[in-house]
Amino acid sequence: MAKILEIRDLKLSFETEEGTVEALDGVYLDVEEGHFHGLIGETGCGKSITGLTVIGLLDNNARIERGEVLFRGKDLLKFTERQFQREIRGKEVAMVFQDPASSLDPVFSIKDQMLEAVRLNKKEEKQSNERIVKELLNKVKLPDVESLLEKYPHQLSGGMKQRVMIAMMLGRNPSMLIADEPTTALDVSIQAQFLRVLMDLKNTTNLTVLYITHNLAVLTEICDEVSVMYAGRIVETASIGDVFNNPSHPYTRKLVNSILRADSTLDSLEEIPGSVPRLINPPPGCRFHPRCEEAVDECSRVIPPVKEIGTNHLVACLRR
Ligand SMILES: Nc1ncnc2c1ncn2[C@@H]1O[C@H](COP(=O)(O)OP(=O)(O)O)[C@@H](O)[C@H]1O
Ligand code: SF4
Ligand SMILES: [Mg+2]
Repeated sequence: MAKILEIRDLKLSFETEEGTVEALDGVYLDVEEGHFHGLIGETGCGKSITGLTVIGLLDNNARIERGEVLFRGKDLLKFTERQFQREIRGKEVAMVFQDPASSLDPVFSIKDQMLEAVRLNKKEEKQSNERIVKELLNKVKLPDVESLLEKYPHQLSGGMKQRVMIAMMLGRNPSMLIADEPTTALDVSIQAQFLRVLMDLKNTTNLTVLYITHNLAVLTEICDEVSVMYAGRIVETASIGDVFNNPSHPYTRKLVNSILRADSTLDSLEEIPGSVPRLINPPPGCRFHPRCEEAVDECSRVIPPVKEIGTNHLVACLRR
């Protein structure tokens, strides 16, 4: 299996008036080509920053302190803005955000925006571009494509806008999609529909997806592997089966146990005491130690190294 993305020991901070935010601290993340890889953790743990690093859209106050972000073997941390525009963004890697409305232009019809997206990629006759646009909208299971094309974004529901966004993204034929909490703003039935579209893409294309969410239940539907993030570090990576049946890190265990109960949204859980620490002066040693029931003395002194405890099963805990 080829790795399309390899993040190695990435340390990234933000300079702010209150101090340095140590947002990512030694992140390791490998994504296999053609796989769906979930990235899960509570709000503020660094999921979006990880995705934004890959497409080169970090805020100006971001500082990369060390590490590598290899995309097909090339280190994106060495890319200029121009290289990101020409070689990566939209072309090789597309990112879909939580609010689809913000990415569609309200003054142009769906047809105009879709044609523009397709035109950027291929220089073909108008007629064949229209055919491509219709195929793309069919692919994301949008009904009544003819009338949809004449509509404007405000005439579409959130779920439809989300699927138009995916169709546009597919029009540029990227190798990888980073979906950052794409269903959080959608209601449950629309969410299920969106996941079905992704499942269909998984079965019919070689698209790689990094699926960012704080909802573990969503990942069971679509992901091959899952990485669990806590306070700027990946604490466990495993197949979706191992995450559920054989979770090793105390934080992952809490997450899994908590979704087996009533609610599956991490942010609403009270079962995990405490909250994600602020990343200005984060806890020393294992960043989870103030909330961990298994913590021993050295947990507050030693940063847990990543260990392989089984086939493709990595964990960063001093007691494993
Ligand atoms: N431009 C910025 N300046 C300072 N801190 C930031 C900036 N962007 C993000 N952060 C901080 O980095 C941490 C990780 O953020 P983020 O990746 O958005 O978390 P998540 O997506 O997991 O909710 C948070 O503590 C957030 O406040
Ligand atoms: S290293 Fe210590 S504090 Fe961290 S998860 Fe393991 S046992 Fe808990
Ligand atoms: Mg986020």
